[in-house]
Amino acid sequence: MRKYLFVGNWKMHKTLRETEEYLGIFLDKLGDFKILDREIIIAPPFTSLALAAKLLKKTPLKLAAQNACWEERGAFTGEISPVMLKEVEVRYVILGHSERRHLFGETDEIIAKRVFGVYKFGLIPILCVGETLEERKAGKTLEVVERQLREDLKYLQEIKGEDLVIAYEPVWAIGTGINATPFQAEEVQSFIRKKLSEIYSFEVAKKVRILYGGSVTPENIEELMKEPNIDGVLVGGASLEAEKFFKICISQIKKGEPR
Ligand code: PGA
Repeated sequence: MRKYLFVGNWKMHKTLRETEEYLGIFLDKLGDFKILDREIIIAPPFTSLALAAKLLKKTPLKLAAQNACWEERGAFTGEISPVMLKEVEVRYVILGHSERRHLFGETDEIIAKRVFGVYKFGLIPILCVGETLEERKAGKTLEVVERQLREDLKYLQEIKGEDLVIAYEPVWAIGTGINATPFQAEEVQSFIRKKLSEIYSFEVAKKVRILYGGSVTPENIEELMKEPNIDGVLVGGASLEAEKFFKICISQIKKGEPR
């Protein structure tokens, strides 16, 4: 059984004061809520990680970083080491996000190095893949997603399954208010699982969590989570308000099919 995963990607938002305020509200709402079947992860900017680590001690919330280098230390101006991230209790790292690919020119080769690098240091990569609108219109969605998977995972040869997360994030759905329909997401996500079983094995692929990301809201979460290959969500805009993200994180999950 895969544990559901709810990840809030704050992107370049929130000062220290705002981080403290947000986590105060979120933890207050969470109270004694049972979240045994799921993990809730926050990915704040680097500057808020140490503070968030302190505030989240002894709570079920965990931390992700929004990027990381493949080296432990060295002359890599502007980068951050997986070891430094572990020092502030980071467990997961979002990699290959479409904003990294499209605004900052990260190639599949760079992303592949990052994925292997963070894994090597004991962090769990959340690898984002997804097609642009033109690619979808040209009928190339599955081709693009397969290429990204094969190239970005090429250095990551031996995994157990629980130690990798894939996020399917169609570029046209990110920050646009137009989410993929549950049917569209499931079509690609079941394809991703099939490709993972070719790259690794059926046993491993069964354990990898595959998230959907792109305009997830408290209104569409329940429908999305019904799909058998949607194991959770990566949320941008709607994770910036503690109340909204909380609503998403406590969604009642009723799967249509046995998992
Ligand atoms: P969004 O962003 O929820 O604002 O569409 C998702 C993401 O970029 O991970």
